Amino acid sequence: MNILLLHPGAMGSSIGAALTGNGHAVRWVADGRSPETHARAEKAGLTAVASLTAGLAGVDAVVSVCPPDAALEVAASVDAAGFEGLYIDGNAVAPMTAAQLAERFGARYVDGGIIGPPAWRAGATRFYLSGASAETVANWFDDSLVDARVVAGEVNAASALKMCYAAYTKGSSALLLAVRALAEAYDVAYPLQTEWSISQPGLADRAAGAAKGTAPKAWRFEGEMLEIAATFANAELPDGFHRGAAEVYRRMAGLKSVSDADLAAVMEALVGPRR
Ligand SMILES: NC(=O)c1ccc[n+]([C@@H]2O[C@H](COP(=O)([O-])OP(=O)(O)OC[C@H]3O[C@@H](n4cnc5c(N)ncnc54)[C@H](OP(=O)(O)O)[C@@H]3O)[C@@H](O)[C@H]2O)c1
Repeated sequence: MNILLLHPGAMGSSIGAALTGNGHAVRWVADGRSPETHARAEKAGLTAVASLTAGLAGVDAVVSVCPPDAALEVAASVDAAGFEGLYIDGNAVAPMTAAQLAERFGARYVDGGIIGPPAWRAGATRFYLSGASAETVANWFDDSLVDARVVAGEVNAASALKMCYAAYTKGSSALLLAVRALAEAYDVAYPLQTEWSISQPGLADRAAGAAKGTAPKAWRFEGEMLEIAATFANAELPDGFHRGAAEVYRRMAGLKSVSDADLAAVMEALVGPRR
């Protein structure tokens, strides 16, 4: 297949590498992208084209793996260019957002949700797919490092699954960091951690791990948390947890460019410098 990948981020480049490894020709649009994206695309063996128009010429499918809050804009730009092939959205978006994409592309839409780290080792990364052509797309990844699985049900089932999964993983990390920040604000971090060591062993380490793990990516988690909040609201379930999580990650967004940001850096981002 000839596939256009928009864009080769940490996850997207690994998806592209799995496809090229299976003999597909994967191109990407260099215009407007950073040196980091250029480096990742090169490492993944993807072919650069200058513009979206050049990228879409003769391709069978477009795979969108970008920040969730850019998913609709990326899809609109592809549609506006007159693309007529399969459109696969692999982003962490609400099922209602996925439904909008399904409406835009009709039966040519394949919904996706990726769970796990960028796919550079076997058995770590699942790419859930739903929609009429989900099985076809899953087959492109046969025996690769991407474990592609079809989710039965509505066309947007893959996005719904991703929202449920990330609601707990990223939502609980945000809750833990907010609780830890609250202890900082009331100057009880030391006694709280002492109590945790007695009655909640491992929680202090988990908070430190959550800080390090989320700090570089928090800038794009705000949008993902808002998609999750909307997913809860649409199901008439409480959406406040994830609105709060979005605020936690919004305050951490500046840590994107801080190398090795740790718990102390996250606490400062959440509650300000220690008094
Ligand atoms: N990374 C993970 O562990 C992981 C796990 C599960 C799911 N995912 C999903 O994968 C998707 C992308 O994640 P990622 O890790 O590849 O992100 P990433 O490393 O931050 O890369 C994002 C890519 O999108 C481009 N981009 C940035 N702003 C954009 C915009 N406004 N419009 C269009 N493209 C833009 C970036 O290009 P420039 O920076 O060069 O501008 C970069 O190439 C997300 O939907 C995420 O939920 C990621």
